[in-house]
Amino acid sequence: LAVGGTAASLAGCAGPKDGDVRPKSRDFPKDFVWGTASAAFQTEGSPQADGRGASVWDVFQDQPGKIIDGSNAKIATDSYRRWAEDVDLVAGAGMGAYRFSISWSRVLPTGAGAVAQAGVDHYSRLVDRLLEKGVAPYATLFHWDLPQAIQDRGGWAARDSAKAFADYAALIGERLGDRLKRIIVLNEPAVHTVFGHVTGEHAPGLKDVALLGPVTHHMNLGQGMAIQALRAAHGDLSIGTTLALQPCRPAGGGLAFWNRLASDGLDALWNRAWLDPLLRGEYPDAMDEFLGDRVRPEDLTIIRQKVDFMGVNYYAPAYMRLAPLSPGRIKPADPPSGVELDAFGRHVDPSGLLEVLARLRTEYGNPPVFITENGCSDPFGDGRAIQADTFRIAFLRRHLQAVKAAMEAGSPVKGFFAWCLVDNWEWALGYRSKFGLVSHDLSSGERRPKASYAWYANLARSGVLPT
Ligand code: NOJ
Repeated sequence: LAVGGTAASLAGCAGPKDGDVRPKSRDFPKDFVWGTASAAFQTEGSPQADGRGASVWDVFQDQPGKIIDGSNAKIATDSYRRWAEDVDLVAGAGMGAYRFSISWSRVLPTGAGAVAQAGVDHYSRLVDRLLEKGVAPYATLFHWDLPQAIQDRGGWAARDSAKAFADYAALIGERLGDRLKRIIVLNEPAVHTVFGHVTGEHAPGLKDVALLGPVTHHMNLGQGMAIQALRAAHGDLSIGTTLALQPCRPAGGGLAFWNRLASDGLDALWNRAWLDPLLRGEYPDAMDEFLGDRVRPEDLTIIRQKVDFMGVNYYAPAYMRLAPLSPGRIKPADPPSGVELDAFGRHVDPSGLLEVLARLRTEYGNPPVFITENGCSDPFGDGRAIQADTFRIAFLRRHLQAVKAAMEAGSPVKGFFAWCLVDNWEWALGYRSKFGLVSHDLSSGERRPKASYAWYANLARSGVLPT
């Protein structure tokens, strides 16, 4: 029996009589934050509304062959216009939080200088409505949609972009910080760095391993400067950043020693290149060959900032093997045979979530954590969403069991954001990939809650993980 909120009120009552069914006690504390997450480019659409400037993704999606289904995000979930429906869905499920991202080029069309007031007003209205409905807004400042004008000036490979980002952060702090109390500075910078600049699968579509060091360093520097600017704008903000933490494991079979080198190599550039400078004030040695001499001594002091929480996005571990001719001399490998795959072909392994939380606990001073994304995609099919999404429910349940176990082991996990609220535009995978608790009809705009939405609502209200 899963009865929300009753366990505590019954605590002082006499013990159960014969035949009584005891209410299951909460699996998560009462103040645990339940939410869903989204990102501007994947949901907003309306690329030209109210003076918005282009981002690197606007340009990339229009290049032939870049998006698997040939689609673009010009409509997406139409959330620039239908944002109030999204808020109702979040509030209607009893969630206490909503994570969204702010489009930099919507508020600063050329990335710097002139402000598009209508763009700022949009986020201001969204924040106000969330607060009215009792939902805490968590805003990400950078979810990969760099203003194209900044890219034209060198993008993250240019040191000046760090300052431009800090100025944008200051603007958001000044205009929204009185109500927007929780800010996530970057989203998965490793993904943006590697897929956007080394493999070219994401915008801006560059394929140059020499960009790995500069892009990593300037995003780290921009983050440090942005945190300083935000604290100066509003002293009471709760500030964190979100990393795509992935346990890196060597491919099986022969060459174990070499494959271990490969997985350690990925760990350095994917996880530690972000964790170490922020939380320890240093880069891992393996980054030296990529960074060269561009790290000025004062940079590490700027990058090492006190954060109020770490955001963890977790989907799957990464298996790697050594590949001397590949960029960085490493290549992804298949997971061991027999490993469970999700409906989309992604490796399902909640033990990896336990592993990354244990690492934060033992190696990085055990900061407060929000799981800022976790979820799975439904399979490619006829393009329609699966409303009875039992796979998603099982996936979330197993990952939440891992969160609970990590909390019992001492990890201060404060909340969980399911990715995502409404099926949206999954970057280079277009509209085929469906991660939502709610489906979306592209032609009518209709949003339809799936079975997982009701399941998640029950969890958010009760704190009890249904079996
Ligand atoms: C992480 C990213 O932050 C998000 O934008 C993406 O849609 C999900 N992973 C699912 O792949």
